[in-house]
Amino acid sequence: MVEKRVILRAFEKEDVTGLHRWLNDPESLLLIGRAPMSYDEALQHFEQKKQNGDLVLAIENEEQQLLGWIFLKNIEHEHGRAGIGVLLSPEHRGKGYGKMALERMIYLGFRQLRLHKIYLTTRSLNERAVNLYEKIGFVIEGRLRQHAFVDGVYYDTIFMGLLSEEWKA
Ligand SMILES: CC(C)(COP(=O)(O)OP(=O)(O)OC[C@H]1O[C@@H](n2cnc3c(N)ncnc32)[C@H](O)[C@@H]1OP(=O)(O)O)[C@@H](O)C(=O)NCCC(=O)NCCS
Repeated sequence: MVEKRVILRAFEKEDVTGLHRWLNDPESLLLIGRAPMSYDEALQHFEQKKQNGDLVLAIENEEQQLLGWIFLKNIEHEHGRAGIGVLLSPEHRGKGYGKMALERMIYLGFRQLRLHKIYLTTRSLNERAVNLYEKIGFVIEGRLRQHAFVDGVYYDTIFMGLLSEEWKA
């Protein structure tokens, strides 16, 4: 079997058309919980991230097909920490791309940006994401009870973290 690979490159304004579609996908709305967004709002969302100094990268396969985006946000060098987020296009979920993209971004965070810790929050209903993060080595550090309101139901928000020494191990 041929190993699939992903490439991370800078996310460009031209990629926002894709982002706009992925953000409005019903599963994305449920799992990352944004209300439907216009193209301009998606563009603003991307531009705000750049202004904040987030590292925003596009995920591509070897055929240069755009699969999603991944970012490090709230990069705080004095603490050596950053948050991580990822969103794949609906048709590319469940094929192992999420794991590959996360591993590359984590490598960049620890081996290029000299981070000590990468963390994230996710909703408890997002079992696929929690499962994947645990597989990569993230540890559940806390649970904010009934923190997210989705489709009329309160879900816990799970806080997970990965330390550089755990990643090396
Ligand atoms: C979360 C996301 C990045 C994961 O990437 P992916 O490539 O789709 O990951 P996979 O579907 O291959 O699943 C990863 C692991 O979780 C497991 N998994 C898949 N669906 C699952 C489910 N419904 N429940 C529990 N585990 C599940 C898989 O078995 C896989 O493990 P494996 O490698 O042993 O097979 C991607 O699905 C996505 O963009 N989702 C929408 C946005 C989102 O949820 N972002 C994260 C917010 S915190």
